[in-house]
Amino acid sequence: MITIKGKTALITGSAKRIGRACALKLAREGTDILIHYNTSEDEAEELARVIRMNGQKAWAIQQDLSYPESGEELMSKALSITKNIDYLVNSASLFPESTYKDVKESDFGANIQVNALSPFFLSRAFARESRSGECIINFLDTRILDNDKQHLAYHISKRVLFSLTRILSEELAPSIRVNAVAPGLVIPPPGESYEYLKKRIHTNPLNKIGTLDQVSESMLFLIKNTFITGQVLFVDGGRHLKGSFYGL
Ligand SMILES: NC(=O)c1ccc[n+]([C@@H]2O[C@H](COP(=O)([O-])OP(=O)(O)OC[C@H]3O[C@@H](n4cnc5c(N)ncnc54)[C@H](OP(=O)(O)O)[C@@H]3O)[C@@H](O)[C@H]2O)c1
Repeated sequence: MITIKGKTALITGSAKRIGRACALKLAREGTDILIHYNTSEDEAEELARVIRMNGQKAWAIQQDLSYPESGEELMSKALSITKNIDYLVNSASLFPESTYKDVKESDFGANIQVNALSPFFLSRAFARESRSGECIINFLDTRILDNDKQHLAYHISKRVLFSLTRILSEELAPSIRVNAVAPGLVIPPPGESYEYLKKRIHTNPLNKIGTLDQVSESMLFLIKNTFITGQVLFVDGGRHLKGSFYGL
């Protein structure tokens, strides 16, 4: 295992929730943080203040990732702050409901752009431009091995990101490792209460709700273990066992 003191990480969607927990986890290990946000400016600036007070550098960077070229745009903004970005964590995501009956063509486009294409082009720019790129972590979802029929467009976009994780892990080896964390029940979607998770607790074999610390610790493990690439770490109480690797 390596030390990550003195490194720099760009974390997308890190003003709040899981992205924020990852930012704090890495900052506590001595890593400087580029906090990407789209609309949550106040929360991003507040997080930057907290990280700076604890001794690390932190910068908040705004970027909407919903259109072509936006991944490249974000990387240029980040590299204008520092040329040495060691880690890229793709956590920003859309999570709208859509089913076979009501999904629109534009829903697929919107989800695939934010959840898969922008992370892909951001990763490619990172690999090409950063002087010190070492590792990429993509956030997937435990249900990539199952059929999430309530979030159809989101589900397909995470499957795309899953494939891109594996492809990039080969394309960017040996210099950059590419892995993924696939969380299960951790925090309810924005606007939902903790009851949302409690009602679904039976969906994993451990009958548990995970914590932000367990998820961010898993990201940290994948960053520190330099013999792992192309891996998906399910942090989900075993929920993925209800899916199947068949056909993937
Ligand atoms: N929460 C869970 O239990 C769970 C379970 C399975 C998988 N995951 C995965 O884990 C990751 C983190 O989960 P989360 O619940 O923390 O995510 P989230 O709160 O749903 O989204 C994280 C951030 O994504 C950003 N975002 C949304 N649309 C964007 C756009 N067009 N351009 C740029 N950024 C945009 C938002 O930034 P702003 O607020 O700045 O607009 C948001 O704060 C996601 O990839 C998610 O799919 C989470």
